[in-house]
Amino acid sequence: MLNSAASYQMTPKAKTRGASMKWSEEYAVGIHAIDEQHKTLFGMCDKYLKDLSEGKGEAVFSHFLESLIAYCEAHFGFEEKCMKIYKCPFAEKNKEQHLHFFTAVNKFKQRYEVYGFNSADSNTLVQAVEDWLALHICKIDMKLTESARKNPIE
Ligand SMILES: [Fe+2]
Repeated sequence: MLNSAASYQMTPKAKTRGASMKWSEEYAVGIHAIDEQHKTLFGMCDKYLKDLSEGKGEAVFSHFLESLIAYCEAHFGFEEKCMKIYKCPFAEKNKEQHLHFFTAVNKFKQRYEVYGFNSADSNTLVQAVEDWLALHICKIDMKLTESARKNPIE
């Protein structure tokens, strides 16, 4: 289900890496609003990693999951609109990957709703989101940079 790095789906790592998750310049798309939204997403995950390391993972998991889904809905919608406006040739691929993201995250949500909190699963989720974001921004969102340059809004 979540094992295809080649197709940029979410790829959970077997072990937890560093306990922080930061946006960096390498993720800069060059469209201010999108870069700010990506920073917010990294910030949400970073905060959850911190909560996990402080043993508060269970208390805030449901909130993290719901916030992540709500924020991504808004952010992906905005990004898809930008891709259309700037006539980005990767607009469809972008949409497709956003859908894969939701399918994957919803499986975490369903497991949580049925079985309750599981710390391994919550670790996997946040790491998988980090992997997905890094790959998706670099391979797809970055295409917006050139499209925005070629097709400016007049
Ligand atoms: Fe995207």
